[in-house]
Amino acid sequence: MTKPARQLISEALNEAANPVARRWWQNLLAAANALYTMLYTFHWKSKGANYYSDHELYSRIYESVEEDIDSIAEKAIGTTNDDSFIDAATWLARSSEALGRMTNRTDPGNDPDLFPQAALDGFEFYLRIIDQMKDEFEMNGLLTNGIDDFLQALCNKHEGNVYLLQQRNQ
Ligand SMILES: [Fe+2]
Repeated sequence: MTKPARQLISEALNEAANPVARRWWQNLLAAANALYTMLYTFHWKSKGANYYSDHELYSRIYESVEEDIDSIAEKAIGTTNDDSFIDAATWLARSSEALGRMTNRTDPGNDPDLFPQAALDGFEFYLRIIDQMKDEFEMNGLLTNGIDDFLQALCNKHEGNVYLLQQRNQ
């Protein structure tokens, strides 16, 4: 017996997202959250001769990364019709892993002079995740024009932040 259309639609909506899509949306969400958290701590821990400008610089940058978190999660759910892979415990665990990988080259500790390099390493990691995600989505036939555009816009937006950090790091 054929199923009623409403049941078919409901089953399609409840179907779990492609595992590649789930993994990369989770990776991206974790990388954004790790970068945001790191930049937020730099905002609090700025001190010394550059205190005020550093404090303001990190504030400006963490706010722009914070916007990504919400838009990534909503895009992930909107494009997969699946919210089951977005949960707080997984998000925090993945974010912690991402933070460890972001800071494996520069451990900023409490030294404000190391914060710009650690932040640049963080952006490099984040932008690399975006690159890898695009490749994986493309290989798996998941890269719609909309998702491609969404990921490009993230890269475009953060070129400005990378420039500001490079200036501070000179
Ligand atoms: Fe503040």
